[in-house]
Amino acid sequence: MAKPLIRFTDVSFQYGRIHPGETSAALHNINLEVYEHEFVAVLGHNGSGKSTLAKHVNALLIPTSGQVMVSDLDTSDQDKVWEIRQQVGMVFQNPDNQLVATTVEEDVAFGPENLGIPSLEIQKRVTEALQAVDMLDYRLHSPHQLSGGQKQRVAIAGMISMRPKCIVLDEPTAMLDPEGRREVMSTIHRLNKEEGITVLHITHHMDEVIAADRVIVMDQGRIALQGTPREVFSNVDLLRELHLDVPQVTDLAQRLRLKGYPIQEGTLTVSEMVMQLCPSD
Ligand SMILES: Nc1ncnc2c1ncn2[C@@H]1O[C@H](COP(=O)(O)OP(=O)(O)OP(=O)(O)O)[C@@H](O)[C@H]1O
Ligand SMILES: [Mg+2]
Repeated sequence: MAKPLIRFTDVSFQYGRIHPGETSAALHNINLEVYEHEFVAVLGHNGSGKSTLAKHVNALLIPTSGQVMVSDLDTSDQDKVWEIRQQVGMVFQNPDNQLVATTVEEDVAFGPENLGIPSLEIQKRVTEALQAVDMLDYRLHSPHQLSGGQKQRVAIAGMISMRPKCIVLDEPTAMLDPEGRREVMSTIHRLNKEEGITVLHITHHMDEVIAADRVIVMDQGRIALQGTPREVFSNVDLLRELHLDVPQVTDLAQRLRLKGYPIQEGTLTVSEMVMQLCPSD
């Protein structure tokens, strides 16, 4: 099998010092590998450790014990932090906190400028990055004139302009309306499929998980469950115990099954449901 791009080995992390008798680490013994070109979604109840996990990928946090590797770079190696942050871009929940310049193109140029890239190359990268998120027409606009979804796409372009191998998105759609969410999700999927960028997508929205290659469910700083979306959503009862929803169709499938209808566990989409209820013969 290919080498993982990101590898967590026995990673534990605690914020501040733990007093004797307390065991409140934010991450406990996480072992996780993410491969190049993978789209991995991370689910979990509030406080389960998703953001703490995400911040370990680009060395914003360093494990209290264990090791995080990005390609061949150990995140605890101070000298490699910039190299790691070039390879792993982070996008956060609030787009307003991520846009700093007065025009969209200046904003997207900010990262490559900090990397000391020559200006002709920067212009090329900015154009390509804005094209990739379908925002080139807005290059001279002020970020403040944009919708939430457009701002998030500009924030993503800012990452892409540094040519990362991976982007980690920590609830990038949480503050967006349905249209903004759709724009951002289709942008992330396109970057993953067409540009081969590895994606680690943290979300509370079950429908944003269905198209992922793999889903990881966090609970109290541990990985409680992982697998393909179908495998994960076959565990409806366990997910509910972990205070998580399941996609609407999966919920309906379970109710129908309980009433005796022969519907498979882990039914994810409307068309799968229709095929089972009305099989054409
Ligand atoms: N800066 C901090 N200092 C101390 N404890 C923290 C800090 N940030 C998070 N924690 C604690 O670490 C645990 C994991 O938090 P984390 O933010 O990673 O969870 P999360 O899954 O991202 O939650 P949410 O869904 O609310 O974003 C929680 O118990 C939280 O209270
Ligand atoms: Mg969080």
